[in-house]
Amino acid sequence: MPLKIAPSILSADFTRLGEQVRAAEQAGADWIHVDVMDGHFVPNLTVGPAVTAAIRSVTRLPIDVHLMVENPDEHLQAFVDAGADSLTVHVEALPHLHRTVHRIHQLGVRAGVALNPATPVETLTEIAGDLDLVLVMTVDPGFGGQDFIPRSGEKVARMAELLGRRGQAGVELEVDGGIRSETVAEVVAAGATVAVAGSAIFGDGGDIGHNIARLRAAASPVERNRR
Ligand code: DX5
Ligand code: ZN
Repeated sequence: MPLKIAPSILSADFTRLGEQVRAAEQAGADWIHVDVMDGHFVPNLTVGPAVTAAIRSVTRLPIDVHLMVENPDEHLQAFVDAGADSLTVHVEALPHLHRTVHRIHQLGVRAGVALNPATPVETLTEIAGDLDLVLVMTVDPGFGGQDFIPRSGEKVARMAELLGRRGQAGVELEVDGGIRSETVAEVVAAGATVAVAGSAIFGDGGDIGHNIARLRAAASPVERNRR
């Protein structure tokens, strides 16, 4: 399976959001990544179900919602109603992670769990068998445009190994934060199957299609070696 690219709208021009999402779709993006922040779990406030519904109206691509919020359980239904295809919650926010993952499945969408940089991969040992997606944060969540944390590739490799050991090699392994043409090869070589990128796709006023092609080109030599 080729690498999936999930543009994060956090770095999009919000005055032209529909246009930019359509441009990403035309350029071959695989998913649209929506970063939801509540000003509590992370020190920033972003968008919610209304913007998710607006995106739903302009694209057929799966909408991948990343919930960086303290009480995700309270908002799951609203994001499903808005058209989300996957809901990813943070292990650090949830003492009853198993319950939340099953609620997400009951709502009929894919369930993901995200790990902050300081959270060990082993925290997912018991829940891995229930997941559709694991998101390894490669920056501390909260803002777009941060630098990739060195040695994140090693963590992605440990997560890929854990998933393989648990017989969960089909689970998507997503990386998020500081992914650009200089860093994408390291995480793909380590086993990432989905790359989120915000500033590298929407930033700098660059061309969205060109930026997506650049990411794919940087990833493709290691993809060929991997499979
Ligand atoms: C970080 C978010 C990311 C972020 C990625 O808190 O979860 O999705 O927008 O942005 P870049 O690619 O600019 O690091
Ligand atoms: Zn994200």
